[in-house]
Amino acid sequence: MTLLIDNIGELFTATEEGILRDAAVVIDKGRFAYVGPTAGAPEADDRFDAQGGAVLPGFVDSHSHIVFAQDRAAEFAARMAGEPYTGGGIRTTVASTREASDAQLRATAQRIMGEMARQGTTTVEIKSGYGLSVRDEVRQLNIAGEFTSETTFLGAHTVPADTDADAYVDLVITDMLASAAPKAKWVDVFCERGAFDGEQARAVLTAGMKAGLLPRVHANQLTQGPGVQLAVELDAASADHCTHLSDADVDALAQGNTVATLLPGAEFSTRSPYPDARRLLDAGVEVALATDCNPGSSYTSSMPFCIALAVRDMGMTPTEAVLAATAGGAKALWRTDIGAIRVGARADLAILDAPSHVHLAYRPGTDLMAAVIGAGEVLYR
Ligand code: NIG
Ligand code: FE
Repeated sequence: MTLLIDNIGELFTATEEGILRDAAVVIDKGRFAYVGPTAGAPEADDRFDAQGGAVLPGFVDSHSHIVFAQDRAAEFAARMAGEPYTGGGIRTTVASTREASDAQLRATAQRIMGEMARQGTTTVEIKSGYGLSVRDEVRQLNIAGEFTSETTFLGAHTVPADTDADAYVDLVITDMLASAAPKAKWVDVFCERGAFDGEQARAVLTAGMKAGLLPRVHANQLTQGPGVQLAVELDAASADHCTHLSDADVDALAQGNTVATLLPGAEFSTRSPYPDARRLLDAGVEVALATDCNPGSSYTSSMPFCIALAVRDMGMTPTEAVLAATAGGAKALWRTDIGAIRVGARADLAILDAPSHVHLAYRPGTDLMAAVIGAGEVLYR
């Protein structure tokens, strides 16, 4: 079955082709078979009328922590009454996640995946990091793997209450890694004051790489530190957060291959200053946007919300923000088959009930998704 999508208000390709008008796409076997002028489109078995709406690549949410139990609404409320965010609440979620059954964890992840799909997300990366024991990290990764191939071992998310950091890193890079590596594509570490320092982070990442995992780093979220430069040095796919950057950090990102993944939901939910996307873009750094969906620092599943924040408060244009949420996310996952509308790519689309991608930021908090297509299948309509 082939599917023609036409009557498109604007086709946001996220490729060098830019934005096309009077364009149509044809999908065959889950991939784009034609992208170009409506007049030249081949015949198809079925037709989807976009009714003048903008058509974008499905969003690539390259950073989430959605296998967990219990929310932390009270912690959020306390923050909004003046408490700071320190990352200390991670241990609260570790305790509840360890106690939860597989079925409970699966149900929460399933619910959030549904929220994401309804908001245009067609690829999601999912991290462990609320287990912090061999058994519980593997359990989280197994459940994450039911929802995505983009699974990340984040055993070094924080130091568990009953251990010291060096002893815990030893466990992470030996027994825990040995059990987790077959279940994960990526290795990640929270490099931050109060979590893991530069040397500990380096030990975790290099051990993960030796075990065949690919590196990515939680870097420079709460303070300046060594995370970003370590990520660039190890050629990590992405340095995530990048909220507190020195000029040397920006230079390193500009010269390296590491994507700066910005997570404005975290600054929103912790009432912190947003990362300066403009500074990064002006320096020539590749930027991605993701939700960081987790019960502590950023309990949003909405890429449109993150796009709106990035435009309003981080100096991005609407076009830059949508590129960061699509092609940027794909780059942050080292994927060439998603995040853009080009022949041969996986047919993932967000079809808006609005004439232009600008409306995602211009009409914040408004549901503009007319339909979402993942690998050629209608996920939501
Ligand atoms: O990306 N920074 C560390 N990890 C998460 C927060 C997790 C939590 O607070 O539960 C983050 O913001
Ligand atoms: Fe995170």
